[in-house]
Amino acid sequence: MYVCICRAIRERDVTAAVRAGARRPVDVFRACGQNPQCGGCVHEMRKHIDETIACEQAAPQTLLAAAD
Ligand code: FES
Repeated sequence: MYVCICRAIRERDVTAAVRAGARRPVDVFRACGQNPQCGGCVHEMRKHIDETIACEQAAPQTLLAAAD
């Protein structure tokens, strides 16, 4: 599923960026080699970042398995 329509950034791209250290939407855009366009995705992207971090802290092995 796409989180950012303008830049075709998917949930799995956000997850991968968070695993690589992204903690803010701007970090995700940077990790994907993109810049934000309309900004309409920022709230949803931040939510996915927070959920991924929470999941990673709760069960790191689950996140690793889900990304594979
Ligand atoms: S939907 Fe992400 S920048 Fe427009």
